[in-house]
Amino acid sequence: MKLTLKIWRQKSANDKGNLVDYKVNDVSPDMSFLEMLDVLNQDLIDKNEEPIAFDHDCREGICGMCSMYINGRAHGPDRSITVCQLHMRSFKDGDTIYIEPWRAKAFPVIKDLIVDRSAFDRIQQAGGFISVNTSGNTQDANATLISKYAADTAMDAATCIGCGACVATCKNSSAMLFVGAKVSQYALLPQGQIEAAERVRNMVAQMDLEGFGNCTNTGACEVECPKGISLENIARMNRELMKANIN
Ligand code: SF4
Ligand code: FES
Repeated sequence: MKLTLKIWRQKSANDKGNLVDYKVNDVSPDMSFLEMLDVLNQDLIDKNEEPIAFDHDCREGICGMCSMYINGRAHGPDRSITVCQLHMRSFKDGDTIYIEPWRAKAFPVIKDLIVDRSAFDRIQQAGGFISVNTSGNTQDANATLISKYAADTAMDAATCIGCGACVATCKNSSAMLFVGAKVSQYALLPQGQIEAAERVRNMVAQMDLEGFGNCTNTGACEVECPKGISLENIARMNRELMKANIN
């Protein structure tokens, strides 16, 4: 396939940035999207030009690093996958593809397609954990009975990889799907109950401090989330917050 790529280039957070055209030839439909960018970057390096900066790590849909907008959609045209799981067979010979970074005030661009998602880390640090003594006296996890519904629903929430597509795709740049998932994975389990009120209060306060917007139930986040995280998690987070503020 021959493709025209229009890629966002931005030297630093303070640079204005603009779309730059690149032609790529001999693209195999079996290449992943990131492999296609690797080939383009090798070409740029061979020509002594600056390669395109993009984030990636696992390249198997686990780490949430490979975040970018492709043709106006977070993680590209296919549902329930990350960019690293997207293959060039989803495009046609002669296509023009627009590639841009996440756009949200709380995710400033570092360079080209890489944005700073450390706001998510700070939200996690505010309460996304349980405090346990791991000195060797920890009881076996299976000793605490948990219903299948609670175990499955907590596991579904825990599949959030923190990629930020929910924020990037939301017209309000809301992080509530992410925070809702992180609150839910503990709220559904007995181990999460002791710190539940403190957790939800602190995580929501940090979310607001980072400059994310509020949810207006548009649902774009759920559609574009590569892990299918449900809006139910936002409702659960709001209930948890109300409970925490009443008690
Ligand atoms: S909720 Fe979905 S879109 Fe948002 S960070 Fe988690 S995995 Fe990514
Ligand atoms: S590189 Fe890890 S999810 Fe894509």
